[in-house]
Amino acid sequence: MSAILKVENLSKAFSGVRAVREASFEVEQGSITGLIGPNGSGKSTTIDCISGFQRIDAGRVELDGDDITNLAAPDVAHAGLIRTFQNVRVYDSFDLLDNLLVADAALGGLHWYDALMRTRSFRSVSAAAEARASALLDLVGLSRLIHAPATVLSYGQKKLLAFAAAMMARPRLIVLDEPVAGVNPTRINELADILRKANAGGISFLIVEHNVEFINSLCHKVIVFEQGRKLMEGPPDTVRNDPRVLDAYLGIAPASGASPAEAT
Ligand SMILES: Nc1ncnc2c1ncn2[C@@H]1O[C@H](COP(=O)(O)OP(=O)(O)OP(=O)(O)O)[C@@H](O)[C@H]1O
Ligand SMILES: [Mg+2]
Repeated sequence: MSAILKVENLSKAFSGVRAVREASFEVEQGSITGLIGPNGSGKSTTIDCISGFQRIDAGRVELDGDDITNLAAPDVAHAGLIRTFQNVRVYDSFDLLDNLLVADAALGGLHWYDALMRTRSFRSVSAAAEARASALLDLVGLSRLIHAPATVLSYGQKKLLAFAAAMMARPRLIVLDEPVAGVNPTRINELADILRKANAGGISFLIVEHNVEFINSLCHKVIVFEQGRKLMEGPPDTVRNDPRVLDAYLGIAPASGASPAEAT
């Protein structure tokens, strides 16, 4: 299977803190890939680096065979890679429709004020964009709030809105940073279904999450980071049962006899 995303020997340091160290991994075309690891293990920094929000110190990033290393974020987005943020970013005072239209206008090269002021340059693209925005709000179950300001949304609903905004650009790869952290458990399954549907429609995903149950139920492959390095990767069942992963999270060696694979 070919890779939609290929990361080779990515390294990034912040004034001496080596946040990511020579990490290499791939996201296969059409897959949902998980990225897990303890707090501070470099997951968000890795996302920032591949999506153009941080410059990398060394390494190479390819999107579907094209070199996107250190492109600016809007160029990465144009190439087909859209990301969401760990601290959800929506425009609270704008209604849901405008939230999606602003996301779309920014990617289409329009200024955000063109989108909001409904200028003529905006009008020329609004019909198609509005139809898509409304279909996406339907997909995430928020269409009844299309004209409500985003401030009325719960935290979980804001994450759904951020996901819909990411979908506006018809990306090939969506990178989600902790999409279900702080989200009501009953909504987590809803989001899993939405992601499966989008994946069946051809979008590949890289998902950073601490909710291992969510990751295991969704992902074809799970990558584990520890202290800025890739510790291991494999199918969810293999990763779940690997004593090194337990050790990385708990900082202790697994109890004697806990697993036949522990003697490494
Ligand atoms: N902008 C920054 N400036 C300085 N240090 C940073 C910056 N961003 C991240 N770091 C450091 O880099 C390391 C990796 O952080 P990162 O946020 O990538 O971890 P993470 O795996 O996403 O953690 P979490 O699960 O808590 O979100 C940490 O030591 C963090 O303090
Ligand atoms: Mg993080």
